[in-house]
Amino acid sequence: MTYAIRYFSKFGHSEQMAQVVGEVTGVKPESVETPLTEDVDILFIGAGIFLSKVNGRVKEFARKTDPKKVNKVVCFGSCALIDSPVPQLSKIFEELGFTVADESFTCRGSMGPWHGGHPDAEDLSELKAFAERVINE
Ligand SMILES: Cc1cc2nc3c(=O)[nH]c(=O)nc-3n(C[C@H](O)[C@H](O)[C@H](O)COP(=O)(O)O)c2cc1C
Repeated sequence: MTYAIRYFSKFGHSEQMAQVVGEVTGVKPESVETPLTEDVDILFIGAGIFLSKVNGRVKEFARKTDPKKVNKVVCFGSCALIDSPVPQLSKIFEELGFTVADESFTCRGSMGPWHGGHPDAEDLSELKAFAERVINE
């Protein structure tokens, strides 16, 4: 199986999460500024939420990526107020013709006094278990 990991991370939370996915898959995570040039079985994509939205650079990355190069997209992310960035991430990729996995990972991401310290060690350990499940399916 081949993997790629991309993230948009304003405060380093998604980057930290992408590192965990990288350790599990053996692939170096890159930001969404790095185009995907190779074919992959799974593209892991991660982001947080700002003012209710996933940053537009994720969509730019998706637009520049050929859906034929990706067998399946797996979404992950964190946020402080809404349930999850995953529905927005899924929609971005689905609308462009990518297949998006039903399974995804979300945890809390700190914002000022809310959810201080998240993603924390427990969140990252749950993410590790999630990524292991995904690649062993
Ligand atoms: C200025 C700012 C605005 C934010 N707006 C929202 C928001 O509207 N809804 C939400 O659920 N989380 C919001 N968050 C929380 C972020 O989504 C959370 O910190 C996330 O973990 C950031 O991930 P990143 O560092 O990978 O970008 C906000 C955080 C900051 C600092």
